Amino acid sequence: MAQPNFSLQDKVILLTGGAGLYGRGLAAMLAASGAQLILASRDVEKLKGVAAEENAKGNRVLAESLDQGDEASIAALHQRLEQRFGALHGLVNNAVLRPMKGTLAPADQFAQSMQVNATGLMLMHRYFGGDMARAGRGSIVNIGSIQGMIGPSYELYEGTNMGDMPPDYFFHKGGVENLTRFYAAYFGPHQVRVNNLAPGGFFNHQPEPFLRRYCEHTMLGRMANETDLGGAVIFLLSDASSYITGATLPVDGGYTAK
Ligand SMILES: NC(=O)c1ccc[n+]([C@@H]2O[C@H](COP(=O)([O-])OP(=O)(O)OC[C@H]3O[C@@H](n4cnc5c(N)ncnc54)[C@H](O)[C@@H]3O)[C@@H](O)[C@H]2O)c1
Repeated sequence: MAQPNFSLQDKVILLTGGAGLYGRGLAAMLAASGAQLILASRDVEKLKGVAAEENAKGNRVLAESLDQGDEASIAALHQRLEQRFGALHGLVNNAVLRPMKGTLAPADQFAQSMQVNATGLMLMHRYFGGDMARAGRGSIVNIGSIQGMIGPSYELYEGTNMGDMPPDYFFHKGGVENLTRFYAAYFGPHQVRVNNLAPGGFFNHQPEPFLRRYCEHTMLGRMANETDLGGAVIFLLSDASSYITGATLPVDGGYTAK
């Protein structure tokens, strides 16, 4: 019996938002996997720094400019990458814009959020997934959130200034779960798989009462760190997950299972 193939060696993979909390760890783990990695976000200078750090270890990482809120920017990145590499093997939709800072934040910030996190996300599937479909292979991994699966747990935030939740985030993180099913069905006949990961909260020096309550609510008793998401992303990008599509996998230390 053949061994499952977890390798990403020489696969061309695009990761959006490769300098953020989860994104920096994903960039490091994908770069170390032997893939040709492309990082793309609005802040290309920051990404160039990440690429330089990873390339110093002998990896192959490029930094590209992308504003996911602007179709012309998505189309331009698509054209540059298509000319250089042809169809991508993998796309990780990790970038997120968080314009709303609370429940009663201005409605135009909700629309701004949708431009990037809904319209832009759909277009990333259309442009890059379309190439993959024509090539007859590929894997798209969306980074959703546990906050797309469940509502806010206000009791976690008592005694902190963190409890004012932005409704846009719960809307588009819920939306990406079913957008994943939509594109899994649409691209499935062309052997392009689309899956969604729902990470839990990332440890970022949050206030103590929140940390204690949040950790107690997980089964593993802790928040996520920068190495917790990479294994699931690599698995879903690789041929080892060849029969998995349309799925949402929580990566949350058991938070949503409790
Ligand atoms: N941090 C958490 O606790 C947490 C929990 C669950 C899920 N997530 C999800 O993980 C992913 C990464 O989150 P994070 O906390 O690391 O985010 P972050 O805010 O640290 O980084 C977000 C990245 O997205 C990029 N970005 C924002 N707007 C963009 C645009 N218009 N075009 C292109 N790039 C743009 C930014 O430049 C940045 O690199 C997101 O999808 C987020 O929803 C995060």
